Amino acid sequence: MIFCSLLQEIKALLALSGKPFHPCESFKEKSPFWCLNGLSEEDVRGIMARSVCAKSAFELWGHGQTHTELRTSLLNYPSENMSPFMHKDSTYRINVYTFNKTLAFADRIKRIDAMEYLPFKGTVSLKSPQHIFCLLEDYGTDPNNIPEHPDYIYFGRWIADGQRELIRSHSVKNRHFIGNTSMDAGLSFIMANHAKVKENDLVFDPFVGTGSLLVACSHFGAYVCGTDIDYNTIHGKGRSSRKNQKWRGPDENIRANLRQYGTEKMYVDVMVSDASKSVWKEAALFDAIITDPPYGIRESTRRTGSHKDITKPPDESHVPVSQAYHLSDIFTDLLNFSAHHLVMGGRLVYWLPVYRPEYCEEMVPLNPCLQLISNCEQTLSSHTSRRLITMEKIKEPEELDSLAYLADPRFSPYQGHNAFREKYFSGLNKRENNHTQE
Ligand SMILES: C[S@@+](CC[C@H](N)C(=O)[O-])C[C@H]1O[C@@H](n2cnc3c(N)ncnc32)[C@H](O)[C@@H]1O
Repeated sequence: MIFCSLLQEIKALLALSGKPFHPCESFKEKSPFWCLNGLSEEDVRGIMARSVCAKSAFELWGHGQTHTELRTSLLNYPSENMSPFMHKDSTYRINVYTFNKTLAFADRIKRIDAMEYLPFKGTVSLKSPQHIFCLLEDYGTDPNNIPEHPDYIYFGRWIADGQRELIRSHSVKNRHFIGNTSMDAGLSFIMANHAKVKENDLVFDPFVGTGSLLVACSHFGAYVCGTDIDYNTIHGKGRSSRKNQKWRGPDENIRANLRQYGTEKMYVDVMVSDASKSVWKEAALFDAIITDPPYGIRESTRRTGSHKDITKPPDESHVPVSQAYHLSDIFTDLLNFSAHHLVMGGRLVYWLPVYRPEYCEEMVPLNPCLQLISNCEQTLSSHTSRRLITMEKIKEPEELDSLAYLADPRFSPYQGHNAFREKYFSGLNKRENNHTQE
């Protein structure tokens, strides 16, 4: 579970369609039911056509702390808003949903029968109704303390379901080409939503791996490309990550993954390249940069370069072709790259590994050209988590007064690091190296 992801996903999708986020007065982020104001049915359908976090959306007709309050509220709902969905030629059904409690079938029927005060004139159709109405009962969020009566009750007309089905249909379990660190389908779609990816965007993943993030972005109509330092990953060669398969088969590559989901036409290309050494022309090229950088746990953090650069063994014939890529460098480079290569308003979405006991917000790398939009935690263990960071480009690097921002300790300067953050990442690097050796 990612904390705050639903809120950030909905805010991003609203921003994508130019709609404001207007929660009702009693809005609580942790509640399973949210009321949002100021949205048309079309707006809601648009958001639900993208959201993988939201389950269903309804037009709210009435609500209250008790069934009596609900009844009063419903009887006050304007009849002209109800009647188009209740006329005698229509068909309908009523569903009962409960949160944190399971109701027996007989109790559900009782709840439905009790709604007889509503002026339904149509015919009930359980199989294919034109309109679906829902009674939603909220029994709180504590499974060890379930109240007898609901804390709150809502009644409304169902409008649309979210896209949770994508998590199953795009599961990496059934994906053509996978690796040890292939990103989970649900998280990939959430990242694409946080990045406000839309049709005809150009999206880039500098640590592309098996292209899971490209799969999600192409599903939303974006053209996609990526780079990875690993030749075998880019060319779909080498050892397979599947249990019963030693070597990768022919056509196990990112293009084939997109083909599997019918989005091959959105594939631009991928290439072998080191993210620490940009090969791109100096221009704002990408509408979004979405990535899961290496943490050094399941794959090494490497960059190209001779070992000589650091240890200078002049007489040795064996020269390693790569050297360690320090975690803090990875993130400084990524932000710097994004500042240069995102279009204005374009978003960078990436995962930041965190050692929980030492984490504080100041550790999140900043860049004066990028505004931090959101920072959501996904807990991995009692001591580790990763944070889904979303940033938006607000300034061109040329617009910066370099001296002014270099003096500001909150920003990752283009060269060197904030000393505090540097220390933190060194600690994390050491811990991960120990962890890998265990
Ligand atoms: C966490 S994995 C990305 C997984 C990917 N999201 C997927 O779904 O398969 C990080 C990737 O970064 C690559 N990598 C490591 N160092 C790199 C570098 N310096 N430049 C580019 N890619 C690098 C690794 O080869 C690995 O494929």
